[in-house]
Amino acid sequence: MSWPTSTDTELFDIIDAERDRQNRTVQLIASENFTSPAVLRATGSVLTNKYSEGYPGKRYYGGNEVIDQAEDLARDRVKALFGAEYANVQPHSGANANMAVYLGLLQPGDKVLGLRLDQGGHLTHGSPVNASGILYDFVSYGVTPSDERIDFDQVRDLALEHRPKLIVAGATAYPRIIDPEPFRQIADEVGALFMFDAAHIAGLIAGGVHPNPVPVADIVTFTTHKTLRGPRGGCILAKADLGPALDKAVFPGLQGGPLDHVIAAKAVAFREAAQPEFSDYARDVVANAAELAEALAGHGFRLVSGGTDNHLMLVDLRSFDEDLSGKKARLALDRAGVSLNENTVPDDPRPPYITSGLRIGTPAVTTQGMGAREMREIAFQIHRVLTNRDDDKVIDETRAELADMCAKFEPYPN
Ligand SMILES: Cc1ncc(COP(=O)(O)O)c(C=O)c1O
Repeated sequence: MSWPTSTDTELFDIIDAERDRQNRTVQLIASENFTSPAVLRATGSVLTNKYSEGYPGKRYYGGNEVIDQAEDLARDRVKALFGAEYANVQPHSGANANMAVYLGLLQPGDKVLGLRLDQGGHLTHGSPVNASGILYDFVSYGVTPSDERIDFDQVRDLALEHRPKLIVAGATAYPRIIDPEPFRQIADEVGALFMFDAAHIAGLIAGGVHPNPVPVADIVTFTTHKTLRGPRGGCILAKADLGPALDKAVFPGLQGGPLDHVIAAKAVAFREAAQPEFSDYARDVVANAAELAEALAGHGFRLVSGGTDNHLMLVDLRSFDEDLSGKKARLALDRAGVSLNENTVPDDPRPPYITSGLRIGTPAVTTQGMGAREMREIAFQIHRVLTNRDDDKVIDETRAELADMCAKFEPYPN
């Protein structure tokens, strides 16, 4: 048989162009990574053809005897990887994983505690423009003004005052280790459930370089595509007794048919993350972030909280150049072949679409094999671009020099 799209060069040229961009420019977006060929293969497999609403052994469609094996394998592997009693591998994304937890364990209007968006929290931790903040009564905690780390006194005070049903830990832009223990103690004191959103750091936990919240929290959600280096998607881990409510919340509560090709690719990634080399990778991600942070500080940039002990850092641009917003900096760096994102810094005077900061992460550059020398080169080039951002010649030179550097570390040759 022949397929009508076999000559769709229009679209496949676009995919080739994106592969070239990933090969030739520097990827510093803290939530991105390069997946393995095996993960890509599973994601592009015939499993995309199948409908399998329900769960293994309890489907609403026929022909799922093979799909059941893939989902069982993914669930078994992720439970073994993190030491979890229960796993749901169906959430299409991290946001869906979080919403499924709220749907399964809360009533609309229930009180929840979460980290404020401009202090490093995620939209799904109660932002007023997100369904979490619209449907549930979130109260926000923040970081201390002095050391810019989570203010546990405030978490406890707010918990005692508001008696939340759920306390959410975890962050999207927080450069320090998040210790789950103080959250557990506060949750126990007020009789709340405790959810840890490990979206960003799941790979650091799997690699053993950050504390594992699974034995401590009631529920752990995460994305599979950031430091964990799998396909785009979400996952929920929990104590066994919460499993039935969480399963019901994911399907039929929030989603329809699962993405079976993505679940298969998650299974591949969970196996990869269980290999000894993955611990080396996680350690190198953190070492590269520390090196890059130190080099940026050496060029005069202020780092939120003074540095990093995970895969990302937040640069506060205000003391470097008060006219330079995060957005202007990101646009200049994009032209020079450096991809990153603007980000609010704690108590940022600028709005979230302008910001005063940059978020910079090392998961992708570490996957492609870059090390300390390249981190120093990247810091040098970031400083050069931001001090010459109106000089096209400097921008072009930087882009060419970085392309030469990237050519030695192509994630996807050919
Ligand atoms: C802490 C946190 N939770 C949830 C999410 C949502 O993940 P997704 O983009 O897959 O919906 C993110 C994404 O950046 C995140 O950082």
